[in-house]
Amino acid sequence: MTDSPQKVPYTTSNHGVPVQSDEHSLTVGDTGPILLHDHYLIEKMAQFNRERVPERVVHAKGSGAYGRFTVTHDVSQFTKADLFQPGKSTDMLARFSTVAGEQGSPDTWRDPRGFALKFYTEHGNYDLVGNNTPIFFVRDPMKFQDFIRSQKRRPDSAMRDNDMQWDFWTLSPESAHMVTWLMGDRGIPKSYRTMNGYGSHTYMWVNGGGTRFWIKYHIKTDQGIDFLPQEEADRLAGEDGDFHRRDLFDSIAAGDAPSWTMYVQVMPFEDAPDYRFNPFDLTKVWPHGDYPLIEVGRMTLDRNPDDFFVHIEQAAFEPSNLVPGISVSPDKMLLGRIFSYADTHRYRIGPNYAQLPPNRPHVPVHSYAKDGPMRYEPNRVGAVYAPNSYGGPAADTTRFGDPAGWETAGEMVREAYSLHREDDDWGQAGTMVREVLDDAARDRLVANISGHLLKGVSRPVLDRAIQYWRNVDKNLGDRVAQNVNGG
Ligand code: NDP
Ligand code: HEM
Repeated sequence: MTDSPQKVPYTTSNHGVPVQSDEHSLTVGDTGPILLHDHYLIEKMAQFNRERVPERVVHAKGSGAYGRFTVTHDVSQFTKADLFQPGKSTDMLARFSTVAGEQGSPDTWRDPRGFALKFYTEHGNYDLVGNNTPIFFVRDPMKFQDFIRSQKRRPDSAMRDNDMQWDFWTLSPESAHMVTWLMGDRGIPKSYRTMNGYGSHTYMWVNGGGTRFWIKYHIKTDQGIDFLPQEEADRLAGEDGDFHRRDLFDSIAAGDAPSWTMYVQVMPFEDAPDYRFNPFDLTKVWPHGDYPLIEVGRMTLDRNPDDFFVHIEQAAFEPSNLVPGISVSPDKMLLGRIFSYADTHRYRIGPNYAQLPPNRPHVPVHSYAKDGPMRYEPNRVGAVYAPNSYGGPAADTTRFGDPAGWETAGEMVREAYSLHREDDDWGQAGTMVREVLDDAARDRLVANISGHLLKGVSRPVLDRAIQYWRNVDKNLGDRVAQNVNGG
């Protein structure tokens, strides 16, 4: 065999065997037919036909990067979670996304943005699966599927439809705070780097002494908040559908690593029953004046994935990935999400998705799980059942046995939360309009709402929408009415 003059490695099949040609299939004579035993050609075709996994049912279009989270302030009096202990630095992965659009949809459509974080901690993966909004459209998981259907495409024309969106929103007054947010400047961030993230739900933190706290996460951009006006977003949607993806990837590639500072609001466990509104209601914020922000640490994203599909498309975030020191709260949306994500991952990327590179914990796994499609890590526990007398793992109930819950009792019911004295659907939205936005931001809010309503919203829904905005703020509703009714 003579030495090859070529300077690059030789092509192989998926099995490492040298291939005979990158260009020509094996035929009988140069006019064919093609031979069935050209297994390399068949491998190429078959592999190509299986390149896609289903896109995420929501948050399909996204971008992500790896980085680190470093603790800057001592919050150990509130949580024993190892990633939040003083001096700690933890590897992490972030994925940002739009919600309603598909894989190929433009980044600059008006939509909330996903803000999903995975921390590879000493006690396994901690996932904080939030949005760029501190609140959400609905407060019961029973309504999530219907809400999403109203935002996606119609069954007949396969087109998105503002009438469906406003029909759902105006029949669901709890959406008002979030829709005000969405129609405002932050509904189209300038880039993923210039938006905040929020855990949105109330979570529980537990310290080393077993004391419980209710907390909310705020992850503020160090690049400064910035947004795109509607006209510029519309232009970019046509010119560069990947505007946000490009910005994130190029910044990191150029060594300009974006960072965010994490804060928490901390509510003493005992405050919840008598707080002025339900502190577990996902449509509400806790005003900063009641519970100020306490700094925790900084996350920096400095490593682009070397393969988007492997690391970002196959990334699987799930609110059920909680570590000791962090737990759930009575927020029904959060409790519903605890089921949903692992279930969708098993369907989308298979039951052994936890073995894929972005999802593998950075600590040894001693699970009794075994077998199933695409399993490639051996089950290393010795015996395949528990309990066993052959040295298999056993739950450490002394260190990790505390379920970190809350006291509860009552009949089984299908009811809304019992009311706290200031619970209502319009108040915080109105506060945002009157006290947070300046005149120019209010003008843009009116223009964005009116522009959206004027695209295909039918009369009964339009009337409800005007009333909806009058409930948020009389003046805002009147201005919208003037625009959509023409005087
Ligand atoms: P504050 O004045 O302390 O907080 C107002 C907050 O509003 C700011 O800190 C900022 O949040 C956020 N904000 C500023 N501009 C906009 C905008 N264009 N769109 C959306 N949010 C914006 O008052 P309160 O804490 O009493 O809250 C008043 C209202 O502010 C709430 O009803 C809610 O609508 C809104 N808000 C409150 C947040 C909270 O957690 N308390 C968080 C976000 C909004 P940030 O610093 O996070 O950027
Ligand atoms: C993605 C369900 C509410 C943030 C998803 C996915 C499902 C889902 C099925 C697709 C996951 C995947 O295929 O990887 C639900 C349900 C909800 C709910 C049932 C309410 C009951 C929320 C809320 C937030 C949120 C309130 C934010 C606070 C996200 C994010 C993603 C996502 C960020 C994308 C994760 C990623 O980047 O891979 N959700 N969701 N969701 N959801 Fe939710």
